Amino acid sequence: MTKQEIILANKEFLFPAVFHFYKEPLVIARAKDQYVWDADGNQYLDFLGGIVTVSVGHCNDQINAKVHAQLDTLQHVSTLFANEPQAALAKKIASITPNGALTKSFFTNSGTEANETAILTARCYTGNDQIVALRHSYHGRSAMAMTLTGQGSWRLGPSQAGVIHAHNAYCYRCPFGLTYPDCEVRCASDMEELVRTTTGGKIAGFIAEPIQGVGGFITPPKEYFKIIETIVRNHGGIFISDEVQTGWGRTGGKMFGIEHWGVDPDIMTFAKGMANGVPIGATIATPEVADSMKGNTISTFGGNPVTCTAAHATINVIEEENLVENARVMGNRLREGLEALKAKYPLIGDVRGMGLMQGMELVGEQKKPDADSTKRLMELTKNNGLLLGKGGTYGNVIRVAPSLNVNKDEIDHALKVLDQSFGQLGQ
Ligand SMILES: Cc1ncc(COP(=O)(O)O)c(C=O)c1O
Repeated sequence: MTKQEIILANKEFLFPAVFHFYKEPLVIARAKDQYVWDADGNQYLDFLGGIVTVSVGHCNDQINAKVHAQLDTLQHVSTLFANEPQAALAKKIASITPNGALTKSFFTNSGTEANETAILTARCYTGNDQIVALRHSYHGRSAMAMTLTGQGSWRLGPSQAGVIHAHNAYCYRCPFGLTYPDCEVRCASDMEELVRTTTGGKIAGFIAEPIQGVGGFITPPKEYFKIIETIVRNHGGIFISDEVQTGWGRTGGKMFGIEHWGVDPDIMTFAKGMANGVPIGATIATPEVADSMKGNTISTFGGNPVTCTAAHATINVIEEENLVENARVMGNRLREGLEALKAKYPLIGDVRGMGLMQGMELVGEQKKPDADSTKRLMELTKNNGLLLGKGGTYGNVIRVAPSLNVNKDEIDHALKVLDQSFGQLGQ
């Protein structure tokens, strides 16, 4: 198919809800390491990796060799039969979760399903139904996951019962008009009143992203989740960390995002970067919590030998190449560069994130969200050969999230292109 035929077929044969970035959809033909090429042969430095999903470079040789071999050995069995790749992956993850406390996994195909499983498990374990989620969050696209999501534009159809939304720690736009640290993290302590006034006082659990991804890489102060955890446990709930974006070293220095905040979660959920782009979802819990799900459940493609092989190989690459540390070091370099751009361009109101999950919120006067400039900047960076992400409830956050094995030349090049593009935006 030609590029135009692909674009036309997309329009004619896909749900219109499947939208694309850019004025003319970018048709990607192939990819390798940090680069993708479009249908016209143009090369782009990819600093989004799907959507924060390619964690160790496109078409990684080491991973793909294992995937190819597994495809030729055993492609599918379903969870009705035991298979080595699923068992080996579950054992591997159990050995690296925080404090070794989470040891039982349930495999699915996406972050949405991983979160569905987590909510069901929290309800089974506690016998309570209410779930507290956060404003500005994103948790997926099933009815429950959309109900958990705290951004209007990602919520379609009727909501489900039993979900309330607490304040997130959006320091740049503090919901209480306060400033950290004088605020004493009021956004966190406010949850006590939320639970007391909108539930019967008992909750099943709390779900949050350690850094909000789609919400625009909103990063809480260090005390936030500790305060929340105490409130959650006092009301009988358990703590679910949605690590779909923050897991597997993305935040730099730690394997999982929640480890930065000193909280011991009861459940973590994964997808995206876990298998470097091969579809997988996973929910991992403490044995007591996992064992509370009585009766049978099934996921046809869950625990698939090929996807489990891809995930295991991805985790091995992250460990063997010390990429959690690389994400910290390269993340610091990227952050410094973005801060320098902020000092140069008043359009950049806030720079935030951790590791290789860095965002820039673009604003006009009095912090008015500037979604239009954000769109135009995306267009310019693409034309200059750099792919970035966009997010935020107000559509005004640029998301920068290269693979964990990015090197300093690639970081410096991306910063140069950003500088050039911000310059062109002002012309
Ligand atoms: C934090 C988070 N949780 C869950 C999901 C849903 O994952 P999926 O799209 O694989 O269903 C996403 C997707 O962007 C996400 O960012």
